[in-house]
Amino acid sequence: MKIKTITTGIIITSIIAGVAVAHEGATGIVKQRMDAMSVMGKNIKLLVPMMQGKSNYDAQIVRDAALEIKSHSGETMTKLFPKMDMEMDMTKNVSKAKPVIWQDWDKFSDLSNQLLILTDGLAQAANNGLADKSDANNDAAGSASMMGGSSSMMGGAPKADPTLEELAKMPADSVFKLVTNSCAACHTQFRTD
Ligand code: HEC
Repeated sequence: MKIKTITTGIIITSIIAGVAVAHEGATGIVKQRMDAMSVMGKNIKLLVPMMQGKSNYDAQIVRDAALEIKSHSGETMTKLFPKMDMEMDMTKNVSKAKPVIWQDWDKFSDLSNQLLILTDGLAQAANNGLADKSDANNDAAGSASMMGGSSSMMGGAPKADPTLEELAKMPADSVFKLVTNSCAACHTQFRTD
């Protein structure tokens, strides 16, 4: 059994849990943010087998998925969490957003902005392919860009908070891991189970 794979699987499952749940009762902006989150969840789900080396790596698909998630992050996401709706939605028991979001707004929006940077980074790192399987993106045009990317990957373990430039040089699956960690970090703090 591969412990690493299992751990990643648990994180992924917890992130995308809810995608299949029907949201009768969710309306307006609450529905909007649930839909946006679901779109992000679908994109993550699409990339998981690729990032685990279980399906063919396709840099274009990685880029597109990263950019779609990015388009829902940052301020676009936080705008869907206006304070006013809160009490009403909690009592209707529809939203899973924790009220602490509005007490800890800076932290919440930091996490959303962090996701934006990480997905931007993932889009830029798409051509780097996977860390463990450096020949994974050998289909057609992939190999040329790999040559350029590989030398910079030898800088040791990634920092906790890499810049966009650093992310762009990392293997795509390493950046992907930071992305899923970022989803999970926000859910742990700001979403009920
Ligand atoms: C800044 C905080 C934050 C980040 C970052 C974040 N989420 Fe969420 N997510 C939430 C909150 C809060 C909810 C609950 C929303 C509600 O029920 O009103 C949620 C709900 C969800 C849901 C359930 C949607 C539904 O239909 O009920 C999914 C799926 C989801 N997020 C996926 C993701 C994925 C995938 C990522 C990363 C790519 C991500 N989220 C990043 C805060 C975040």
